[in-house]
Amino acid sequence: MHPRLRDDLADLPGLLHEAREHATRFLAGLGERPVGPPPGPREPVALPERGAGARGALEVFERRWAAGFSGGAGPRYLGFVVGGSTPAALAGDWLTAAYDQNADSGVDSSVADLEREAVGWLRDLFGLPGAHEGAFVSGATMSNATGLAIGREWVGERRGVSVADQGLAALGPVRVLSGTPHSSIGKALSMLGLGRAALRRVGVLPGREAVDVQSLEAALRELDGEPAIVVANAGTVNTVDYDDLRAIAALRERYPFWLHVDAAFGAFAALSPGHAHLVDGLGEADSICLDLHKWLNVPYDSAAQFTRRRDLQARVFQNSAAYLGSLGDRPDFLHLTPENSRRLRALAAWFTLAAYGREGHAEIVRRDIALAARLGERLAAMPAYRLLAPVRLNVVCFTLADAPERAAEVARSVAESGEAFVTTTEYAGVPALRAAFSNWRTTEADVDRAAKALERAAG
Ligand SMILES: Cc1ncc(COP(=O)(O)O)c(C=O)c1O
Repeated sequence: MHPRLRDDLADLPGLLHEAREHATRFLAGLGERPVGPPPGPREPVALPERGAGARGALEVFERRWAAGFSGGAGPRYLGFVVGGSTPAALAGDWLTAAYDQNADSGVDSSVADLEREAVGWLRDLFGLPGAHEGAFVSGATMSNATGLAIGREWVGERRGVSVADQGLAALGPVRVLSGTPHSSIGKALSMLGLGRAALRRVGVLPGREAVDVQSLEAALRELDGEPAIVVANAGTVNTVDYDDLRAIAALRERYPFWLHVDAAFGAFAALSPGHAHLVDGLGEADSICLDLHKWLNVPYDSAAQFTRRRDLQARVFQNSAAYLGSLGDRPDFLHLTPENSRRLRALAAWFTLAAYGREGHAEIVRRDIALAARLGERLAAMPAYRLLAPVRLNVVCFTLADAPERAAEVARSVAESGEAFVTTTEYAGVPALRAAFSNWRTTEADVDRAAKALERAAG
């Protein structure tokens, strides 16, 4: 054994203790460290020949890298849609690495059953029907891609071909319809060979990002009975708008389409009694995307995908080989997801759900919704800003009242203050800012600090 490895093995408890001390220091300072330090250029150094040992690596990491890491897990990081890690999720994630299980199958371990239990808990949490079966994937993009891959196979079934066996050439073009799709849908279509151009944007309701169901119906009618894929959106990234899922699902009585719902973070509305109606009909979908490293507050990377057609899913993703075992009635996860070998990312989700249950996670969601509303009220009262949309859930979409073109400068200035972090976007052609609340740590005091930083940045 290499002497560095031998020494580290002998010192493993001490080493883990040091890593824990480091993590504890980092987490204790999370609320006060600069939220989003501007990424300075970091020059790579040469690969070490002998290596520094794990303690040495930790020391180099602290010196060269740690200070440049963002406060993304902290309470005033309001950019994109970023969650933190609950204490239990963090513990679960550490153990994921310690146990280092390959969650591809249940041949040699109980991990597959743990993942099934966690999937079942998520199904319960979001009120999905039992017909939906799920699996963990790395993020919402991969969840969308998985759902659309199953949808692609369904279109093949309708046309009498198996895309999994015969390939895309046998399938021919497929129309994908959506009102305000997340950019990851285009990426997924590119990966799946359906092509970004397959995506046809359908009209939205006036002043909204929600699809106009009549326009959707007209687009489906035009297809003249050709099977299609509809991507419905439950929580758009700019204004958290929701398509009418029930009305869209009802269209399947007249038109053949696969209904995929991107509910990456919007699904969490189900945990707030005042907002659950927004996801009414979610369970009617054929496939669903749920992100977990956002509002479930588990560490990156983690998401879930659900579908009613596990048979088609297994057709797409099966990885049969004599040494891996057969599919059977209850396929292992390597037959259901894009990866074969995969980490047990279900464990962090399992830990946080076991630790805080439905009530604990509902509290996080309700609090974040209230905090977004609070920031919305603050900004609406400032002459420098105007809201671009009502605060429907956990995202505030706003701009400078008289100078929207300053949005990027304001975002930079807020980041440089170290007090908060918001990201830029464009909404209805207007340069804008977004503040998204999905962290379990955020409090009213954090909103007040973020509001002050925004007020100062506007000048
Ligand atoms: C609605 C929606 N779908 C998909 C994604 C992609 O998520 P990920 O970065 O986890 O792949 C996001 C990310 O913000 C999102 O908001």
